[in-house]
Amino acid sequence: MSTSSVELLEGTPTSWRKESAVFLNDEKRSLLGRNPTSWPLLLSSLLITFGALIAVFLLLLARAPLPQQLDPYRVQIWEDMKRIDLLGRKLQQAISGSRILDSIKWLSKDVHVSGTEENEKLLDELGKLYSRWGYDVRFFEYSVLLSYPNYSRPNTIEVFDDDGGEWLTVSEGFGRPKGPKELRDQESDSRSGVWWSAYSANGSVEGSIVYANYGRSVDFDLLKSMAIDVKGKIVLMRFGGVSRSVKIAEAESRGAIGVVLFSDPILSGPPSGNNSFPSEMSLPGDDVQRGGLLPAVGDPETPSLPSLPFVPRHSTKRLRKTGALPRIPVTPIGSDVASRLMRLLDGTLSKEHRWQGGLSADYRLSGSRRFRLSVSSKLTRRPIRNMIAVMQGAVEPDRWVMVGNHVDAWVKGAIDPATGTASQLEVARVLAESSALSPPRRSIVFCHWDAEEFGLIGSSEWLEEMGKVVDARALAMINVDHVAGNASLQVKAVPLLYRVLSEAAQSVEQTDQFERNNGRLTLLDSWKYHGGRSPIDGDRNLPHIGLPGGASDHQRFISLAGVPSVDIKMTSKGRSSYPLYHSMHEVPWTVERFVSSDGTALATVARFVTEATTRLANQLVIPFSAGDYAQTLSQWLTMVHTKLDHLDVPKYLHNYDLRFRALINASSQLREAAEAIDERAKEITSSKRGTSVTMLNAINDRLMRMERVFLDGDAFLTPLHRHLVFSPAKIATARTPFALILETASDWATADTSEKEPLLEIISDSIARLTIAMRTASEMLILPLEQ
Ligand SMILES: *[C@@H]1O[C@H](CO)[C@@H](O)[C@H](O)[C@H]1NC(C)=O
Ligand SMILES: *[C@@H]1O[C@H](CO)[C@@H](O)[C@H](O)[C@H]1NC(C)=O
Ligand SMILES: *[C@@H]1O[C@H](CO)[C@@H](O)[C@H](O)[C@H]1NC(C)=O
Ligand SMILES: *[C@@H]1O[C@H](CO)[C@@H](O)[C@H](O)[C@H]1NC(C)=O
Ligand SMILES: *[C@@H]1O[C@H](CO)[C@@H](O)[C@H](O)[C@H]1NC(C)=O
Repeated sequence: MSTSSVELLEGTPTSWRKESAVFLNDEKRSLLGRNPTSWPLLLSSLLITFGALIAVFLLLLARAPLPQQLDPYRVQIWEDMKRIDLLGRKLQQAISGSRILDSIKWLSKDVHVSGTEENEKLLDELGKLYSRWGYDVRFFEYSVLLSYPNYSRPNTIEVFDDDGGEWLTVSEGFGRPKGPKELRDQESDSRSGVWWSAYSANGSVEGSIVYANYGRSVDFDLLKSMAIDVKGKIVLMRFGGVSRSVKIAEAESRGAIGVVLFSDPILSGPPSGNNSFPSEMSLPGDDVQRGGLLPAVGDPETPSLPSLPFVPRHSTKRLRKTGALPRIPVTPIGSDVASRLMRLLDGTLSKEHRWQGGLSADYRLSGSRRFRLSVSSKLTRRPIRNMIAVMQGAVEPDRWVMVGNHVDAWVKGAIDPATGTASQLEVARVLAESSALSPPRRSIVFCHWDAEEFGLIGSSEWLEEMGKVVDARALAMINVDHVAGNASLQVKAVPLLYRVLSEAAQSVEQTDQFERNNGRLTLLDSWKYHGGRSPIDGDRNLPHIGLPGGASDHQRFISLAGVPSVDIKMTSKGRSSYPLYHSMHEVPWTVERFVSSDGTALATVARFVTEATTRLANQLVIPFSAGDYAQTLSQWLTMVHTKLDHLDVPKYLHNYDLRFRALINASSQLREAAEAIDERAKEITSSKRGTSVTMLNAINDRLMRMERVFLDGDAFLTPLHRHLVFSPAKIATARTPFALILETASDWATADTSEKEPLLEIISDSIARLTIAMRTASEMLILPLEQ
């Protein structure tokens, strides 16, 4: 093939040169012939001729094909992993834990709820910092619907005293700073202690109280079976089990007039005493988990469109009517008040073990006394801004490795988000320092999102505006929401990233002395030891990695945009969250006391992110493992089959066997295609083989498209989710892959006969769409023949 093309090309230039030479000779003659005695003229003619000769020579050089070894399309380039490893090590060394601790201090100095001046100021500071480091900084502003309490009139709960004939206060709606002076000073701000839930309805309601456990639909069903009606009542529920918005929607749909939420000490630790905060990490009895109540993500006023000035808004009235905003007042309360409320109930004692916890009272389901819940809450449209900082790649600037976290907090946010943001800043700083000498191959894009706490609003609006650009350019999104402990990594990611993440963790040295003393010398060792089982059956090289769901900004990137995403956290031993989550005690003192006294854990997370980013941005072949994806899908399909079988779906779903066989078939086809491309990638990455730029781009384009193939906008009831594998069906926190199939199957199993048929249709439709996506993926992965 290559020989014949060279011959073909060599024929052309010869005749070309001849023709040009004839043309030149003619011109020379005429020039010289006109005035042969005029020497200056002759000299200048000679010069002109010489110049023309050079020009023509250059022209020829440009037109003529280069010798084969210089053909840029054929030139072989080779991977240099040593250089990348060295770069990673240098960057890691530059990371400083104490600098991260310092950043946490300024990032969490003030209460900085989204839409406030304090948050604006933080974003300005971040912009200045990145500009100073040489990044290209842009702000993206949107005007979105936010919600605030009246800090000078906190939410209250009163009980009617029949004897005295008056209302007595049970809850004044706020907690107080505690502990040593340094801690109290950091906590003090008139807004810090106030208990509120964003987007609650404003107003005052009166009624008796019913306790509904976690507020899941099964909990309400149990109450119903005991003839305890929640209609016209205020429902008391504890956090956990399902998201806040699901609890509210359940309560509303069953006729409740108000909701009161509390953190049960069984989950949040002792509310007082020597083994509670500030001696230990636990939620004090007079503080609460704040949070948003939106059932969907993004600005509720502009679903699927960016909240720019020219975009029309849905009215608040319409949003309440459709359930996009809560219709009833809601407040969180401290567990001290929850115990007090329980003691004021006089109805049925709860017999269910699973309904009880750590309150200092008997758990009762209802009571005869009348309560008044007053909530002050105001909806307002306010400007928010995302800050995006780009370090342009030297070779492939149009491929973006993205690193992100949010800026806004419910109170001061020293853990969530400042630990994540400060670690990210340290990554950005060391990368900027090294980029002068060693710029990344691909672009690195740092994102600081606004209004995440209110419902992933900043990232959603940005994707709604920039989605097509992101689709064309984004390689991966690395999100670090917070670091709440020093024991163990907690990572949620798509399978394409399993390998690069575990390799990155292997090259991060463990600096925690306890871990080292126990023989765990790399971050990967600790991750494997503390985490659960490998996500791939029988593959002991991988640490535990969960599904890429959850409520932080990476969720939009995978679920809406199909960008391979990872969320990285570090937690304390055996915990998935931390008791002080969204509380007023998230201040720097708490970070140094309970998370990382010397910044070691924070630096470790920053090093891990740096390694992953460096590999994704510099390896010739994008380090995605197509094989892991195909293998995981096949494994999950086995699980789907078992579950559907268990629910008896195959018996009722027309042609189930044929459909599922096609799906399995598509899955094995995908495994073959994925293994082939991985094999080719491995040869390049291990420097066994070189590659042409064309071939490299062919491989990378395929790897970049693989996740996107699973986007299907028509499969979902809402335009907010599009990923057939990783999007939730109804509830924004996916706990299962293929939620469209599995969640629907669970609904089908419990639905009334008249409602079953449409659910079966959704299941077979989803199976078909998934089959097509998998077949497309294998088709798309096939590489062109090597030239
Ligand atoms: C907030 O509450 C205070 C005290 O009740 C009241 O004076 C003030 O008008 C309220 N502010 C708003 C904006 O409603
Ligand atoms: C909230 O409700 C209270 C009555 O409970 C009322 O006085 C106040 O004006 C309302 N505020 C808003 C913003 O609607
Ligand atoms: C708590 O600690 C203090 C001082 O260390 C001690 O005097 C007290 O007895 C402890 N209380 C309990 C309930 O353990
Ligand atoms: C690690 O976390 C534990 C438990 O929260 C804490 O006692 C310990 O001091 C922490 N270590 C460092 C170095 O911060
Ligand atoms: C499985 O796929 C192959 C192509 O890879 C095809 O020839 C075969 O007919 C398929 N079988 C089923 C049951 O769909």
